[in-house]
Amino acid sequence: MTAQPSPSATRDDLHRGAPAGEPLLAATDLIAGYLPGVDILNGCNLVCHPGELVGIIGPNGAGKSTLLKALFGLVTIRSGSVTLQGEDITNHRADSLVRRGVGFVPQNNNVFPSLSIEENLQMGVFQAPKTFNERFEFIVDLFPTLGERRKQSAGSLSGGERQMVAMARALMMNPSVLLLDEPSAGLSPVRQDETFLRTRRINKAGVSVVIVEQNARRALQICDRAYVLDQGRNAYSGPGRQLMNDPKVIELYLGTLATDVESAAGKAADGPAVSTAKPLGGDPAL
Ligand SMILES: Nc1ncnc2c1ncn2[C@@H]1O[C@H](COP(=O)(O)OP(=O)(O)OP(=O)(O)O)[C@@H](O)[C@H]1O
Ligand SMILES: [Mg+2]
Repeated sequence: MTAQPSPSATRDDLHRGAPAGEPLLAATDLIAGYLPGVDILNGCNLVCHPGELVGIIGPNGAGKSTLLKALFGLVTIRSGSVTLQGEDITNHRADSLVRRGVGFVPQNNNVFPSLSIEENLQMGVFQAPKTFNERFEFIVDLFPTLGERRKQSAGSLSGGERQMVAMARALMMNPSVLLLDEPSAGLSPVRQDETFLRTRRINKAGVSVVIVEQNARRALQICDRAYVLDQGRNAYSGPGRQLMNDPKVIELYLGTLATDVESAAGKAADGPAVSTAKPLGGDPAL
């Protein structure tokens, strides 16, 4: 059985380790889905505070992409709310969210292959074309390769390079928060590392980031905090490194590492490894 949301789960449980103050982006009790009568999100909660790098991990089909799409107005929210700097943006359209400072990079089909790198970036600011030069300078500072190869068609780029263009395009509108859906998917380990470093660099440049990742361990290494989703619900949450070292989270969501970590923990400590993360509302192992 999967962890069920508990009516008694407090904000502290749900957003363990989150800083004090008003979140930049907050999703509260989201119920959402694609088909009538079929809910994919069953009461999801997430907050991202200014400057945070927040991860979302969980098994295939858990609703991670659906959560990002719901935040970005691409899936109808049936109940619950999303706020940006305290203002309600539930079910606002994606184009209006972009104007308000939300950027989104979908996993697939995220560049215009027939256009050059520069033209792709122009598309990123089609709502504010006069800002192109200034934003382009910022982007080239972060990703010099894009400046050097600005005339190259995006269709001729590798998967990792395309991902860079897609992120850069979303950054052209100077978002305060960037939603990334599995930026490392389909890339070689080296390219995956580059993507994680790039994500960190974007975050350090002042952009808050919510990142969905298949590569859960790697994501937990770079995130300030993360949420584990299971069947459209919050299962665990907390600081990335705390979750990464939690035997329960390892066993349930981080796969084969369990034995390694348990044996290492057994060597390092007198007693058995003890879970520090509390399941939200139930024990998913039951
Ligand atoms: N466009 C759609 N129409 C109907 N159902 C959908 C649609 N997109 C996703 N779903 C369903 O919603 C559920 C959650 O899908 P979602 O893509 O959010 O999962 P995920 O956690 O991102 O998984 P993955 O790790 O495989 O990317 C799945 O059961 C999926 O079949
Ligand atoms: Mg997905």
